[in-house]
Amino acid sequence: MTHKIAVLPGDGIGPEIIAEAIKVLAYLNTDMDLGLEFEQGLIGGAAYDATGTPFPADTVSLVQQADAILLGAVGGYQWESLDIAVRPEKGLLGLRSELQLFSNLRPAILYPQLADASSLKYEVVSGLDIMIVRELTGGIYFGQPRGIRELENGEKQGYNTLVYSESEIRRIAHSAFKIAQKRDRRLCSVDKANVLECTELWREVVTEVGKEYPDVELSHMYVDNASMQLVRAPKQFDVLVTTNMFGDILSDTASMLTGSIGMLPSASLDINAKGMYEPIHGSAPDIAGQGIANPLATILSAAMMLRYTFNLGATAERIELAVNDALNTNVRTADIYSAGMKKVGTSEMGDTVVKALQIRSK
Ligand code: IPM
Ligand code: MG
Repeated sequence: MTHKIAVLPGDGIGPEIIAEAIKVLAYLNTDMDLGLEFEQGLIGGAAYDATGTPFPADTVSLVQQADAILLGAVGGYQWESLDIAVRPEKGLLGLRSELQLFSNLRPAILYPQLADASSLKYEVVSGLDIMIVRELTGGIYFGQPRGIRELENGEKQGYNTLVYSESEIRRIAHSAFKIAQKRDRRLCSVDKANVLECTELWREVVTEVGKEYPDVELSHMYVDNASMQLVRAPKQFDVLVTTNMFGDILSDTASMLTGSIGMLPSASLDINAKGMYEPIHGSAPDIAGQGIANPLATILSAAMMLRYTFNLGATAERIELAVNDALNTNVRTADIYSAGMKKVGTSEMGDTVVKALQIRSK
């Protein structure tokens, strides 16, 4: 059996971190005969420069034909002044929307070796393991109408629309409840139902879906409180489910609990678990090309790909254990460095993970 993986390195540090994830997958592919096949494509600013669009037709057909997509990151200063319709971010949003990757899983796990790297106290974050389920193809990111218009008085006005239909809420709720069933069976739905009608409906529908999952304890929280609770007492959460924009924001917050955004992978799944896998961090143009970025979020995203799309949970776990082993050798990229550790670059971190896999397979 072959598994076709579309590889989209993108911009900034994207190509550097993707190279390390491919190193890890290529090793396992040979070692275990996984049948992985890789094909590269363009996305984001790199695609814009080459073709005039951030999500070119070749990439559309590549991702449609692939079983899974591994993506680096998109965006950079040089494209920031472009029209919003062709900005690199539009490539990523187009991909999510084209493939209907509505369910975005963003786990935040604290590796005990990195407790020092977190800006929070050890007792607040030790043992942290939460999962944010972010709706990814609807809400204010995609709602119409949107734009910048000119009012009669000549003043400009920007506007976006927050919109969710019942079916969109229902499918992400099912996704989240199913994930909660495999974990500690606690789901917190985050909304702003006290102000926004759209999320009043969100709360209603999630509650209704919850009746089908009596084994999962459902709670609701306003997003402002959730953002506070995430830094006050994050271990109260097991699974969080929320809208596209709230999930964008809360997942960045959650990442910092774990020490570095450079550690957090993600999966974006369609209804059949075809998925795109990417680190939650951005393209970090300020450090691009220097070989110092942390590749672990991308390597862990590759592990999620094996687990969620290819049903290779045991192999995914091998990667996760190897990352743990690598951290145990005290190598650290700059973002997770602390005194007494050995500072390494992107590729040495990738090599350390491969070495850990080799040692474990002996
Ligand atoms: C993320 C990113 C993207 C988002 C950007 C790059 C469009 O911040 O994946 O969280 O807002 O969804
Ligand atoms: Mg984000």
